[in-house]
Amino acid sequence: MIHALSIDDFDERTLRLLLSWGKEYFEAEDLAHNPDAELLAGRRVALWFDEPSTRTSLSFEAAVKNLGGGVVRIDEKCSSAVKGESWGDTAAVLAELGCSALVIRTSDADVPSALAEEDALSVINAGNGTVEHPTQAIGDLLCLELSGYLSTHLKLAIVGDSAHSRVANSHFRLLPKCGIDVTVCAPAAWLPGSLPSLSSREKERIQLTTSLEEALSGATVAMYLRVQKERHADNNISLYEEFIEKYQLRSEHLSRYPSLKMVMHPGPVNWGIEISPSLRNSPKCAILRQVRCGVAMRMALLRYLLGGEEE
Ligand code: NCD
Repeated sequence: MIHALSIDDFDERTLRLLLSWGKEYFEAEDLAHNPDAELLAGRRVALWFDEPSTRTSLSFEAAVKNLGGGVVRIDEKCSSAVKGESWGDTAAVLAELGCSALVIRTSDADVPSALAEEDALSVINAGNGTVEHPTQAIGDLLCLELSGYLSTHLKLAIVGDSAHSRVANSHFRLLPKCGIDVTVCAPAAWLPGSLPSLSSREKERIQLTTSLEEALSGATVAMYLRVQKERHADNNISLYEEFIEKYQLRSEHLSRYPSLKMVMHPGPVNWGIEISPSLRNSPKCAILRQVRCGVAMRMALLRYLLGGEEE
């Protein structure tokens, strides 16, 4: 049984495979009309989200359906987990009910691995607390590949609330592995306290700074992250104001840093906080493209986990 719990579950060969399949799906005229539209016929995937989600939840649903599979949604509040059923038993019951995989988003970071331990069905982490969000990161990697930036010497700036972002945590594991130099930029309080365990070569690819100038100078891509207010113990208004004043991306930055070719954000965007609304329709804004990449990549991932193909 293959699980997708962390970026650490993907070696370089698998990532390359996912990128090539994801690219095929992305380039299909219509994601729903693809050569693998029957791949999951007769199969079911369970979706369990106990934290809010629009794009991750719906893009997994679209990905399953585009491959011909069915979706079962679990209402967390009505599931037997609230009566204390163990994660192992929950996974076994879902498998018995005909589910081949479970996509789970949960505020309790340990739940995806506890479900996977039973090895009854493939478990896909769709965001566990502040720990990881591997499918968002791999979808973003597809977006970089399709834009032609993965093959060049890429310098990418991650700007925003990295300290509370699971997307950032997955990117810290993923981007250095792909040879990308990352500058992480935020007010000191939102810089990551620690980085995941990386090889010393990978660690050298990540620099931290509080200076937006330093992060954007020479960067090709700026990936902004949402200010995660719901994860802040105190809603420090002056910190939010400082972020808007010193870090918000505005049109003037696109002129000041001509190397900047693409603006990304995993969404949802707080327009006017992370990014000025005037950039919403900029040709450099790849935020909606990231959504389509997310569907294509999740189709590739489901094919990898459930398609039964040899690499
Ligand atoms: C992210 C998440 O939920 O971690 N969104 C997403 O899945 N695309 C980012 C966020 O909430 O800020």
